[in-house]
Amino acid sequence: MIELGDKSWHLPGMTKKLLIQALQGQYTASVPFWLMRQAGRYLPEYRDLRAKAGSFLNLCFNPDMAATVTLQPLDRFDMDAAILFSDILVVPHALGQKLDFLEGEGPRLEPVTSINEINFESFDKKLSPVYEAIRLIKKQLKPEKALIGFAGAPWTVACYMVQGFGDGKFESVKKFALGNPENFDKFIDKLVEATTHYLLEQIKAGVDAVQIFDSWAGLLPNPEFGRWVIVPTHKIVNNIRNKYPTFPIIGFPRRAGMFYKDYVEQTDISGIGIDEHYEIEKAIVSFGDKVAVQGNLDPVTLLAGGATLEGEVKRILAAAGKAPFIFNLGHGIIKETPPGHVAQLAQIIKSHNRE
Ligand code: CP3
Repeated sequence: MIELGDKSWHLPGMTKKLLIQALQGQYTASVPFWLMRQAGRYLPEYRDLRAKAGSFLNLCFNPDMAATVTLQPLDRFDMDAAILFSDILVVPHALGQKLDFLEGEGPRLEPVTSINEINFESFDKKLSPVYEAIRLIKKQLKPEKALIGFAGAPWTVACYMVQGFGDGKFESVKKFALGNPENFDKFIDKLVEATTHYLLEQIKAGVDAVQIFDSWAGLLPNPEFGRWVIVPTHKIVNNIRNKYPTFPIIGFPRRAGMFYKDYVEQTDISGIGIDEHYEIEKAIVSFGDKVAVQGNLDPVTLLAGGATLEGEVKRILAAAGKAPFIFNLGHGIIKETPPGHVAQLAQIIKSHNRE
């Protein structure tokens, strides 16, 4: 008797998890959904626990609390997947970079300019609470639900590491990279190594799929998009597939626009997250036969709610047709979003008839 256990992604056609079925390229009778930043400040129960934890990083590194927060949105809205509660910046932190989250201002890191300033000495020790949180979540998660692990892509993580804070432009990072491309390659390669290791540990701890967040991919034109978005992502995907040949991996190169197709064709991912600026119809036609498409409701439409929300969700579901599709937002939930709007969204997706 085959013990499916946590490894159901090994056996196409054998998993109960809708999200994994879609990532295996299968048609699903209902559309699986989850939302980026589904655990977070728009939920009062999150704000309560966040206040008890004292700081965002305390919450990330307390396995019990991180597990509780991960599961909160599923209790309310019955999503098809939980996403591990953590942050992409725990990787620079584990590489020895000083990290703080300032209230209302976002992350602050002590900028690094050379790979000599980062080291792997206490990498797994610092990240062990994350692996422990994964084990705790898996014990509590229903078998039909998937747990998504994640990491930031090297380019996006490098943006924060080199500049020290986010401003949506990262001109200082682009200047640094374009001025010292060989050095920047080495920096990116270190991050490929760290990210690979981190994701493999998450897989060992029990996640069912992973997403690679490249939030600032859209800042790079070509040839830099190829060099610092596609190539490093492909290396990470290959490294994972060497150990776990069929493991489901979602890529999310936000605002990649005309480069989305190259990214899909050249990285070997199983699912592609598209942002709200890319047309869902175009995504389905251009690469819906190669990967599962995930997206792409504008988070502001969810904030607005009402008839506009209903119309948009139905339009996206109709455009996805019968292709392997995962409903999500084009970017993370906005913190002012009323939970009732998320309930409305869940209800529309669940009552959608795909026949
Ligand atoms: O529910 C989930 O999606 C899982 C948890 C998650 C968080 N961050 C929690 C978080 C995930 C997947 C991330 C990814 C992340 N973090 C990205 C990539 C996705 C994206 O949003 O583009 C990036 C760029 C970061 C870095 C980061 N973390 C920023 C810029 C900020 C500040 C901005 C903000 O929204 O406050 C964070 C903080 C953060 N990460 C919060 C949460 C819930 C809010 C902090 C708090 O509760 O005080």
